[in-house]
Amino acid sequence: MGNKQKDVVVLVGAGSIGQAIARRVAAGKHLVMGDLKRENADVAAKILEDAGFETSAVAVDISSRESILKLIEHAQSFGSIANLINAAGVSPSQAPVSAILKVDLYGTAVLLEEFGKIIAEGGSGVIISSQSGHRLGALSEEQNTKLATTPTEELLELDFLKEITDTLKAYQYSKRCNVLRVMYEATRWGKRGATINSISPGIIITPLANDELKGPRGEGYRKMLEASPAGRAGTPDEVGELAEFLMSNHGRFISGSDYLMDGGTTASYWYGDLQYLKKTH
Ligand SMILES: NC(=O)c1ccc[n+]([C@@H]2O[C@H](COP(=O)([O-])OP(=O)(O)OC[C@H]3O[C@@H](n4cnc5c(N)ncnc54)[C@H](O)[C@@H]3O)[C@@H](O)[C@H]2O)c1
Repeated sequence: MGNKQKDVVVLVGAGSIGQAIARRVAAGKHLVMGDLKRENADVAAKILEDAGFETSAVAVDISSRESILKLIEHAQSFGSIANLINAAGVSPSQAPVSAILKVDLYGTAVLLEEFGKIIAEGGSGVIISSQSGHRLGALSEEQNTKLATTPTEELLELDFLKEITDTLKAYQYSKRCNVLRVMYEATRWGKRGATINSISPGIIITPLANDELKGPRGEGYRKMLEASPAGRAGTPDEVGELAEFLMSNHGRFISGSDYLMDGGTTASYWYGDLQYLKKTH
């Protein structure tokens, strides 16, 4: 660990996607790796330390504002925060409705709000949303505005969120909210000369996705991937390449945008061979 003040990159969610992005943007900076499971952050920090990065690992729960503020305090002890990467989240098969909304929807909104107050001049951030948000039908303009701009502490009280009873819907609304919230926050981050964008990936091969592909529902997933325009799943490195572009100087004119990166799966879901999925996904 160096003790000179330097630019700091904060990664929340130390899984495969988060690590792939961090590798591309954190060289020469201090990389803070935060995760709900401290051991996940420790393992990822060790891998990146061994690859030449300067890191520190912390436990953080993005569904708690207090925990996010502690993360910011830790990161600022190394220097000024130039980049935020949010690759933390829970999926529909991992958690109940309330936890998905608390982590994926509310937690991401608080993260954007708090980092938007302290992000360095010229800084940038990327939020990992999901193709799932693109499978939700169009919302009304009023609902869009509410998801984008409702004060964070009132978000989970929105009537149409309180009506959600299944985990897939909770995940889809959360990921739609991430994209809208990024648009709103881009207007605030812009006042600090900083950009913020989101990436909505399709199925990306990670240990978890591999388990799903080999598990009881694996055949359905494999069929879906084979019928998609790309004919395969994506890799964390491909998400990393796009995130690097958005966070680099090449991306300075891009803010408040969402990048759907799913090998054409969403296009096929709405208008192609994958329309059969509409009944279940
Ligand atoms: N893998 C995919 O196919 C895929 C597709 C689309 C979107 N995504 C999204 O990408 C992001 C990263 O997913 P991944 O595949 O790398 O999964 P992953 O499970 O490997 O990583 C997610 C990490 O987030 C952490 N986390 C969970 N809740 C947290 C909380 N409250 N606070 C802090 N950390 C928390 C987990 O401990 C885990 O280490 C998620 O938001 C997920 O929804 C993944």
